[in-house]
Amino acid sequence: MCAEIIYGKKSVKLKDGEQIKEACRKLGVPFSCEQGYCGICAIDILEGEDNLNELDENEKSMGLDRKRRLACECKIKSGKVKINY
Ligand code: FES
Repeated sequence: MCAEIIYGKKSVKLKDGEQIKEACRKLGVPFSCEQGYCGICAIDILEGEDNLNELDENEKSMGLDRKRRLACECKIKSGKVKINY
């Protein structure tokens, strides 16, 4: 348990390398397709973008970048990531 997703004053700890989806769900991020197609789960990365994995093809095709990611697609490598949505 070395990684953490932070939203405002709330945060959820997770394992290194884990998908961030469930942590984001606990923090209130809305989901729909959960497969990288609808864009509903798009989040802003306020801090720690380098702690997330590289953008995948779905994120690239939506024109996202390291500061705007799909919560259903990302994994956290380690460390803290501060989000907004
Ligand atoms: S829930 Fe549809 S893109 Fe993430």
